[in-house]
Amino acid sequence: MIKIGIIGFGYMGRFHWNKARCFPQARVACVFDTSEEKRADAVAEGLTAYDRLESFLAEDLDLVIIATPNQWHAPYALAAMKAGKNVLCEKPATLTVEELLSIQEAERETGRFFTVHQQRRFDPDYRVVRDLIRSGELGRVTTIESRVLGERGVCFGWRADPESGGGMLYDWGVHLIDQILGLWPGEQVTSVYARLISVLTPAVDDYFELAMNLSNEVTAHITVGTFALQKLPRWFVFCDRGTLRLDDFTGTAGGAARIRENVSGFDSVVGQKHLGPSRTMAPLKPEFLEPISLPPQEDLSMAFWNRLISSLEGKEPLLVTSDQVLRQMRVVEAAFRSSAANEVIKVRI
Ligand SMILES: NC(=O)c1ccc[n+]([C@@H]2O[C@H](COP(=O)([O-])OP(=O)(O)OC[C@H]3O[C@@H](n4cnc5c(N)ncnc54)[C@H](O)[C@@H]3O)[C@@H](O)[C@H]2O)c1
Repeated sequence: MIKIGIIGFGYMGRFHWNKARCFPQARVACVFDTSEEKRADAVAEGLTAYDRLESFLAEDLDLVIIATPNQWHAPYALAAMKAGKNVLCEKPATLTVEELLSIQEAERETGRFFTVHQQRRFDPDYRVVRDLIRSGELGRVTTIESRVLGERGVCFGWRADPESGGGMLYDWGVHLIDQILGLWPGEQVTSVYARLISVLTPAVDDYFELAMNLSNEVTAHITVGTFALQKLPRWFVFCDRGTLRLDDFTGTAGGAARIRENVSGFDSVVGQKHLGPSRTMAPLKPEFLEPISLPPQEDLSMAFWNRLISSLEGKEPLLVTSDQVLRQMRVVEAAFRSSAANEVIKVRI
């Protein structure tokens, strides 16, 4: 039986509790939360609830899940590993590279693992992008845009507090950076430019743009905004034989097309009425184009947890390693530096 304890029984703490319940070989035994109300919630679900970390860590646990506000991730991960527990931490892994390096030291010292809930590697939209890029059907990628826009305009609760590690770069940014790094794991990030701003939420970034140049000459643009009352696509991928657009998280809304194999040059056409005098931007003849169907994706909403359990049972290696997350955190740090200095930061990440 895999015995699990959860730190932070809020939204994500409950999410993990519900996932763990799908596995007969796993059992969530206890919770540690500083909120009396959340401890009462846990007790109501039949769990033991602690108000002190030491008492919680005195339990015999195979895995500690950390689902607190972000500034507690590193101290709780270190404490749990030093108490002999493996750790599944919510994203962002830590607030700084330095914190993550000390966690890696603890991994070496204790032999326990530290993994991070980067479950968006299994999102269907991301898998469509990944599969189409890998298939080569659209040619060589030149630029990829990954974008998440909301309408509510605010970061709620602790997400609006800089001391808690609030703001969208730590919130959505780390997922989207992780996805880009996963598309070309063998390539390096060579430069980072970021602009972090507070539009409606004071003190933290509720909007950011991040450009990452990669060693394969792809540029990735990541944009996250909490206040956009018009839609832009979730993904837009420019390639040298075709283009992909995905509108949302379903992976089914959007389209892809490429130039037919036998088309090598493009004929010169006269401009269209609404376009004005441009031949460059005149539309292609439809017969030049070949629509590409979006590869269907199975439901993988249990995939992260399946792999976690299999890693705990020693059957498979971890899906998300601290080395992978370290690259992500180095990008985050470069982005903060870039935005503060309004400079492109040259890196080798
Ligand atoms: N992977 C994902 O897709 C995803 C989605 C949402 C949130 N998250 C992450 O999950 C974490 C929690 O987010 P949430 O939305 O569940 O927040 P939440 O506010 O709903 O829950 C946080 C819980 O932590 C408890 N808590 C606060 N300070 C504590 C402390 N010092 N010690 C112990 N418990 C404490 C709170 O009482 C609360 O129960 C964050 O790191 C967030 O970034 C990840």
